[in-house]
Amino acid sequence: MTILVTGATGTVGGHIIEQLNNKGVKIKALSRSIGKAKLPAKVQTVLGDLDKPETLQPHLQDVDSLFLITQSDQSDAKFLTNQRIIQKTKEAKVQKIVVLMDVEGNPIEEVIKTSRMEWTILRPIEFMKNVLYDWVESIQKEGIMRPAFPDSLSARIHEADIATVAVKALTEEGHHKKTYALTGPEALTPRSMLKQISEAIGKPIKLIEMTEREVKTEWKNKGYDEQFINYFIIEMRKTPPKQTYTVLPTIEQVTGKPARTFAQWVHENKHHFE
Ligand SMILES: NC(=O)c1ccc[n+]([C@@H]2O[C@H](COP(=O)([O-])OP(=O)(O)OC[C@H]3O[C@@H](n4cnc5c(N)ncnc54)[C@H](OP(=O)(O)O)[C@@H]3O)[C@@H](O)[C@H]2O)c1
Repeated sequence: MTILVTGATGTVGGHIIEQLNNKGVKIKALSRSIGKAKLPAKVQTVLGDLDKPETLQPHLQDVDSLFLITQSDQSDAKFLTNQRIIQKTKEAKVQKIVVLMDVEGNPIEEVIKTSRMEWTILRPIEFMKNVLYDWVESIQKEGIMRPAFPDSLSARIHEADIATVAVKALTEEGHHKKTYALTGPEALTPRSMLKQISEAIGKPIKLIEMTEREVKTEWKNKGYDEQFINYFIIEMRKTPPKQTYTVLPTIEQVTGKPARTFAQWVHENKHHFE
């Protein structure tokens, strides 16, 4: 069995590579730059860009299954690009496709469902690792965490659990035509996460609440557009939809193991905060 993994140098993809490699599966790992990530020696890194579907074509030959990341861009241009990726995958006679979506899904799902390939769609909630983007620097340098909505709930998920579900779907039967909504095992708030990080590193962390205007400016300076900021950074946190904090049993049902906790995530990542 050969599997092409996109997003292989990223967080979820990295866990997928590790877990597939442990199972002895033959892997092709797609990246836009060879040598960017330290992948296991047996993994073949292949050069390709998801924004240029033709670059995937040579790597899809002799591939049984594809793990595809879709990114949060829902523009018409991105839809057409993803459509071409699905078309090329079908033409290469790939049997199975497992796709990572954002929680709210993506119009490309209909194209995947009617592709006649075996398909599984993964719709995870916010990743635990987003803590690293949001707060690691201020915690490490100043002992301060600056959330805008400190009591906003989210059933954040450990990225390795998404990977375990993906690996099951890629390598085992029984996941065709399944759309898995995935969450962690508890609803967390920035305040409750701060407490766990502080205990793990053995240092106090001060919470300073940011205003909406301050958080908008911060994300604008990081290069994000207004639409992304208004939806993901403001609305999802200010009035989170029920689905973002409702804990689902999917991880345990699919993997046979309880979903990994934030305490475990902090234990594995605490070096980033010290
Ligand atoms: N963060 C969240 O809370 C969240 C929630 C739900 C879903 N998601 C989705 O999950 C996906 C994976 O996230 P992650 O955290 O594992 O990734 P990540 O750590 O942010 O890394 C991004 C990965 O995407 C690859 N990539 C980006 N643009 C590419 C392109 N044009 N062509 C080929 N590869 C490209 C990068 O590969 P190279 O740089 O090596 O080319 C890298 O492996 C994201 O696309 C996101 O939409 C995220």
